[in-house]
Amino acid sequence: MKKFSMAILMAITLGFLAAPVMGEEASVEKGAKLFDDPALGGSANPTKCTDCHIGGEGLEKAGNRENLTEMINMCIQGPLKGQKLGEDSVEMNALKLYIKSL
Ligand code: HEC
Repeated sequence: MKKFSMAILMAITLGFLAAPVMGEEASVEKGAKLFDDPALGGSANPTKCTDCHIGGEGLEKAGNRENLTEMINMCIQGPLKGQKLGEDSVEMNALKLYIKSL
């Protein structure tokens, strides 16, 4: 009986620990959400990527750029007036996956 409760307790604890970690994985879907999120980069103004690149239009070839990271951060710091994202952050990787999927 004791072993059984321990197993349940462990499962619940692991579930709690794993949930936020799993939610932090970069994906095309996450990138698409960030692309439409005015708060990206801690930005306080209402501008978001989709305002200028509607539905990702015009960025179909941008996924092949060598400086894609810099271009994304340039637009975050410029029009969004946000803080640039870490080069290998989940948010940056998600945005890159989304842009490459266009
Ligand atoms: C105020 C309008 C505006 C907003 C908002 C904006 N961009 Fe841009 N973006 C531009 C312009 C202008 C260019 C340069 C011209 C071009 O290539 O379309 C550009 C270029 C880019 C490029 C390179 C395009 C290429 O041809 O290779 C990428 C990638 C990009 N933006 C991503 C983003 C992302 C991600 C966001 C949101 C964080 C964003 N942009 C928000 C205007 C904007």
